[in-house]
Amino acid sequence: MKIDVITVFPEMFRGFFGESILKRAAAMGAAEIRTVDLRDFATDRRRTVDDKPYSGGPGMLMKPEVWFQAVEACMGDGSRPARVVLTTPAGRPYTQRIAEELSGAEHLVILCGHYEGIDERVSTLVTDEISMGDFVLTGGEIPAAAVVDSVVRLLPGVLGGGSEATARESFGAGGLLEAPQYTRPPEYRGLKVPPLLLNGDHAKTDGWRRRQAFDLTSRNRPDLIAMGGTYAVGGFEEREERQ
Ligand SMILES: C[S@@+](CC[C@H](N)C(=O)[O-])C[C@H]1O[C@@H](n2cnc3c(N)ncnc32)[C@H](O)[C@@H]1O
Repeated sequence: MKIDVITVFPEMFRGFFGESILKRAAAMGAAEIRTVDLRDFATDRRRTVDDKPYSGGPGMLMKPEVWFQAVEACMGDGSRPARVVLTTPAGRPYTQRIAEELSGAEHLVILCGHYEGIDERVSTLVTDEISMGDFVLTGGEIPAAAVVDSVVRLLPGVLGGGSEATARESFGAGGLLEAPQYTRPPEYRGLKVPPLLLNGDHAKTDGWRRRQAFDLTSRNRPDLIAMGGTYAVGGFEEREERQ
């Protein structure tokens, strides 16, 4: 997958894209990630990318010309189908489903807004308007980094464990949050790992995990249960959990 992130702050991404899974994905050729400096498409000496909004009010708006030029430059001859993602608080709330959808694209172009946002005409270039949540950030760089990370880790071969690794995570195939997990030691400062997890019985452990995932999701994200996150209530698993 090819990913272009258009921003006025390309330096912000240097560390993020150069570490961990993203570094590995680039090294193995699964993702080619590039930052594009929006100011390279300004035509004046001061490399201006913003102007006053017609509607008045405080702040500056990003100008359409630089965005059109930058997006078109990223798309090249248009032979590679692209998803063009605008980061905006007014977009669709970002979810794992959208990450999965985007991970099927050959080319992602992500637009990071700044200042008061971007001239509305730029939305005609966009296939997806994405919000990171009901809050306002200073710029689209953090949302863009989150989109790149969540998409790239879904690309084949990038995570050890294959697609099973992501299917078992929160928002995976079952639609629930992931159950609590433990590692050694079995007891730390009086805090014990649930004994059932120590006996190596996979059938019982699976039942316990599903029940825990359901309880955690009911507590913290009942909206996911309403959307169809399920737990097949089997008598055996139920009894194990209630012990
Ligand atoms: C200060 S914000 C502009 C907010 C805009 N005036 C509004 O009220 O919706 C500047 C840029 O940050 C990014 N941004 C801020 N909050 C975001 C969010 N919750 N999700 C996605 N992008 C966000 C967008 O790219 C936006 O253009």
